[in-house]
Amino acid sequence: MIPLAVPNLAGREAEYLQECITSTFVSTVGPFVTRFEEMVAAASGAKYAVATSAGTTALHAALLSAGVGRDDLVIAPSFTFIASIAAIAHCGALPWLFDVSAENWSIDVGLLANKLDTETHRRRADGTLVHTETGRRVSAILPVFTLGIPAQMDEINELAKAYHLPVVVDAAAALGTFYKERPSGGLGADFTMFSFNGNKTVTAGGGGIIVTDDPEKARLFRHLTTTARVGADYDHDMVGYNYRMTNLQAAVGCAQMENLERFVEAKRQIAGRYDEAFSDIIGVEPFPDPDYALSGHWFSGIVIRNRDAQQLGDLRVRLREAGIDARPFWKPAHLQAPYTGAPKTEMTVCENIWQQIITLPCSTALTATDQNYVIDCVRRQLGNR
Ligand SMILES: Cc1ncc(COP(=O)(O)O)c(C=O)c1O
Repeated sequence: MIPLAVPNLAGREAEYLQECITSTFVSTVGPFVTRFEEMVAAASGAKYAVATSAGTTALHAALLSAGVGRDDLVIAPSFTFIASIAAIAHCGALPWLFDVSAENWSIDVGLLANKLDTETHRRRADGTLVHTETGRRVSAILPVFTLGIPAQMDEINELAKAYHLPVVVDAAAALGTFYKERPSGGLGADFTMFSFNGNKTVTAGGGGIIVTDDPEKARLFRHLTTTARVGADYDHDMVGYNYRMTNLQAAVGCAQMENLERFVEAKRQIAGRYDEAFSDIIGVEPFPDPDYALSGHWFSGIVIRNRDAQQLGDLRVRLREAGIDARPFWKPAHLQAPYTGAPKTEMTVCENIWQQIITLPCSTALTATDQNYVIDCVRRQLGNR
């Protein structure tokens, strides 16, 4: 089977892991953790970085650090991996789910401006921003950089400023990407999260990180994720979390970071080859690649406009029979059992996208021979044109 996206571990991973074993630094304290944080901060254009056990735990602690509380609403796109929304629920809050833009598959900023204007008000007594229909406080915006494409951050930051809302970015797959030539961790958000899950362009075998330019936010986040311990005498001044990354994970992460640019470039090449190869097939469209950004093309694939869900499912089965790991992509959050009651906008764009996507093999070490085989099989299945 040609896999969808597997790690590329041909660098110094084994060497660095051996260093951890030899030194006995295998847990959350160790030199690789600090080195990893410095490497990610530098690569993402941010001043501070704090590494965590996972992207999901990073998002949870970032939302708490941004002041999200029980029963609040957090604005988020419905089209995302479920972890973005679960992190909101872990705070005891609810998502306010938004449709995405067809241009970038990230939160629709026109819709966001419109709904903030027409569906919220300021409570007279204390100035709190309230979602009028539910009476809940709106306490943050959580944009997602879908597929490693930065969302429209200028517009989002402007709205966040106007409505006094913190911004916590889920940039899980967007390390190494750029928005208007600025690296994706330096775009003015309060907190930006990257994931190092095994399917990401660079992995730590699991893990996450928060980057920020604000020293106080970095300090609070580090404190909260390190059990909120004060000093050496088992004093804890808040409800903290054991969410830090281990030196073992960071060792793998450091070795991977040494190849970040090469890996992102490989992803771009793979996406470019698919886009070119399928460009003449009627009803088949590439994944978005907006001009304002340099996307990381985390996943490659195609959008098939002229087939129904059953036909698309059959196509995936036939590709799998041919030894190609072709898959669907995220099912929107408003269709997921725990979140069907969450407030939401109309969802035309994301429901269409979800039903029309096939993801295709795009590991950074995918060979030209394997990619050509995938291309031939897909073209044959789609009847060439
Ligand atoms: C968009 C998005 N958000 C959040 C996550 C969660 O990250 P992690 O798996 O590191 O917890 C992922 C991927 O795994 C993701 O793709």
